[in-house]
Amino acid sequence: MDREKMFEELSIPGAPIIKTVPPGPKSQEILKYQAETESSVVSYSRGMPMAIARGKGATLEDVDGNVYIDFFAGAGVMAVGHGHPDVLKASHEQIDKVTHSLDIPTETRQRMVKTLRSVLPKELSRIFFGGPTGSDAVEQALKLAKFNTQRFGIIAFEGAYHGMTGAALALTTDSSHRDGLGPLVPGIQFIPFPYTYRNPFGCPDEQVGDQAADYLERILEDSHSGFSKPAAVILESVQGEGGTIIPSPRFLQRVREITEKHGVLMICDEIQAGLGRTGKMFAFEHAGIVPDIVTMSKALGGIGFPISAIAYREELNTWPPGKTIGTFRGNMVAFAAGSTAINWMVDNKVPERAAELGKKAMVKLKELEKSSKILGEARGIGLMMGLEMVEDKKTKKPSADLAKKVRKYAHQRGVMIEVGGHHNNVARMLPPLVITEELLMKGIDILAGVIKDLEDGKLA
Ligand SMILES: Cc1ncc(COP(=O)(O)O)c(C=O)c1O
Repeated sequence: MDREKMFEELSIPGAPIIKTVPPGPKSQEILKYQAETESSVVSYSRGMPMAIARGKGATLEDVDGNVYIDFFAGAGVMAVGHGHPDVLKASHEQIDKVTHSLDIPTETRQRMVKTLRSVLPKELSRIFFGGPTGSDAVEQALKLAKFNTQRFGIIAFEGAYHGMTGAALALTTDSSHRDGLGPLVPGIQFIPFPYTYRNPFGCPDEQVGDQAADYLERILEDSHSGFSKPAAVILESVQGEGGTIIPSPRFLQRVREITEKHGVLMICDEIQAGLGRTGKMFAFEHAGIVPDIVTMSKALGGIGFPISAIAYREELNTWPPGKTIGTFRGNMVAFAAGSTAINWMVDNKVPERAAELGKKAMVKLKELEKSSKILGEARGIGLMMGLEMVEDKKTKKPSADLAKKVRKYAHQRGVMIEVGGHHNNVARMLPPLVITEELLMKGIDILAGVIKDLEDGKLA
């Protein structure tokens, strides 16, 4: 079958279809029950109020029959799209065999390890499954770094999002997640990320990456910097929740050089940017570097089965058996689904296709940036894109309100997106990598229409 035709058949035809402005009556009933019974902390269903009935490819249908173009993809999980047929088949077969075995090996687990080793740089030869979530992978990466260096400090970056558990939360900068919880894990220092649009150094934009790297170098070299030598530097190869901030390859190369020079481990968090999303299997590959430890999750479970992993260099493989344990470290269905999904992506050149589609999307988004008074910057790499919303393009005053409204009205018109950013003012797009060009462009046109209507005061 023609490759593009195959991608087309993965999604529900005709999207978006809006039969009733969401939330429709059936959704309202389910949302009401959720509000009355589940925790007040529930969040996504406030931003995109609906109840979901089914997903297919790059489309989702709600219980009222509305069909959406999914630029959210379960926060970047659904790389191969909802209900991918090959992945479903592998999952169904696995469910009938065995579903849980801690870390006692199975053929399915071995297939996942082999798959990961086939897509990772050969230096990252050791794989560890430390728990079901991305946060678990981050916790394990930190533990491994601390255990090996016998140092305890970690350097992380402003705007970072690494998760919601103890140390992962302490590495996450958004004060809305941190405030009111008292002291978090100690020993973590944040330094500026090369966020060119909001240049933290006041230098010419093309120097931001170097300035950020110099900053890191200076604090490691200056014995009066107040930082003790850390165990590791952790960064997202592309900042995701921080607002789709794409560092230059040079910045990543310099962090690699500096960490190596100082005997500090470099951890790349690829939980969101990894597994094809940015147009390479791993986003650090854009810089031609190999970190010491990589974290993975989200797309790793194929179609949303919970699993995470770290990959690391052989010389770090020093911890004794049982040093770190846990009940849910080997979800067999996730292994079956994830290895099938990754192999399918490789066979069908999905990362390469994501790179091409992303370039086409960016042409359109850059035109939108030029013509809009409230879109400060459109940025993207592969199918990881963000629209930074501002009150005024000259002052760059961030507008979280506008980003929220883009999400609200895009949803009403049949496109799901995420909101993030240092100032919660970035409308974020993370479509399934199997999206067709037609759906991608249609979705962008809808977003452009919403932004234009907001600018013209047609939407409150
Ligand atoms: C870069 C990054 N690291 C870690 C996490 C945490 O993953 P989880 O939500 O599965 O714990 C996320 C989640 O969005 C992420 O984007």
